[in-house]
Amino acid sequence: MSVKKIKENVYYVGAIDWDRKLFDELIPLPYGTSYNSYLIKGSEKIALLDSVDPAMYDTLTGNLKEVGAGKIDYIISHHAEQDHSGSLPELIKAYPQSMIVTNEKCKSFLMDLLLIPEEKFIVINDGDTISLGDKTLQFIFTSWVHWPETMSTYLKEDKILFSCDFFGSHYATDELFVRDENKIYIAAKRYYAEIMMPFRVNIIKNLDRIKDLDIEVIAPSHGPIYGRPGFIVDAYKDWSSDKVKNEVIIPYISMHGSTEKMVEYFSKSLTKKGIKVKVFHLTDSDIGEVAMALVDAATVVIATPTVLAGPHPNTIYAAYLVKALRPKLKFISIIGSYGWGGRTAEILSDMVSSLKAEIIEPVIIKGYPEEADFKMLDELAEKISNKHRENSIKS
Ligand code: FEO
Repeated sequence: MSVKKIKENVYYVGAIDWDRKLFDELIPLPYGTSYNSYLIKGSEKIALLDSVDPAMYDTLTGNLKEVGAGKIDYIISHHAEQDHSGSLPELIKAYPQSMIVTNEKCKSFLMDLLLIPEEKFIVINDGDTISLGDKTLQFIFTSWVHWPETMSTYLKEDKILFSCDFFGSHYATDELFVRDENKIYIAAKRYYAEIMMPFRVNIIKNLDRIKDLDIEVIAPSHGPIYGRPGFIVDAYKDWSSDKVKNEVIIPYISMHGSTEKMVEYFSKSLTKKGIKVKVFHLTDSDIGEVAMALVDAATVVIATPTVLAGPHPNTIYAAYLVKALRPKLKFISIIGSYGWGGRTAEILSDMVSSLKAEIIEPVIIKGYPEEADFKMLDELAEKISNKHRENSIKS
């Protein structure tokens, strides 16, 4: 996709990254991604909203030429992370009269991260407006989605909310607007889970901040644009709500089959009680899939063998991710097998203790599971089922 017209004098000028496989050297990108940049031509001034990842700077400048942007007056920087800001140093050289418009915190980040000189900035406050002549940009601070400086811009006359990462999806497509909502729902949920979920409380506040705006289009900085904003706003309301589902996630590792046998038995025991179970083998699972499952699940049960007196390192990684992503889950437990001893349950319990989830007594057994061990797993399944019922957790 090169330049695309969104509305009169409002253009998409960003770049599609079809082949990127990993973000932050951490997050898998099964659908690639895009770095959305937008150009707004007012009757008096021209504004560019965000840049692109520096690797795709040439695409952006090619698009700017194609759209006939001989000059840029304002570059609105919603977010200092380099996938949107990384081309700013080159852009301000290419368009020397342009000024970067952003908030004080973002200015400070851009000066630190990209060494942009202070005199290149115009600092705005929450609610401020800038006139482009016949078009007006209003800035809305939508902090902590997902950095502290993040903000959005509302283009009043065209009723477009440029939301930056908020509502985004890592999804490379030629389509300017979302066509298949089911497909984008999955990509946007994955994005929410990986990027936004730790800031769920701020998401709720920011949803409230934009609720009275008359929005016809939401244009995020990744993925296609929403011509039906209610679709993504309602999805965000659901994901960020306190509501959890009657689901148990089991991320597991097994070295010689004992823990795997426990997982297999325990999953069946939970399923018999009407609980939906999602099992992730941590050796080859996509962590984005695990993160997505964490958006809704009421309970996580980490399953691990004991190695060197503690949990298998892959399950330590899983516990760390659960802690870092701060899902709204209500209950956590641990199952696993050991050979001669260790502190597996204590170590994992300590790791997730900062979450507001109740830790249900783990089931750690010696060696390969036997009848008495299966009974303990049934009892754990029963406890979880009861907890879900007592808390009115439904599918
Ligand atoms: Fe898409 Fe937080 O950068």
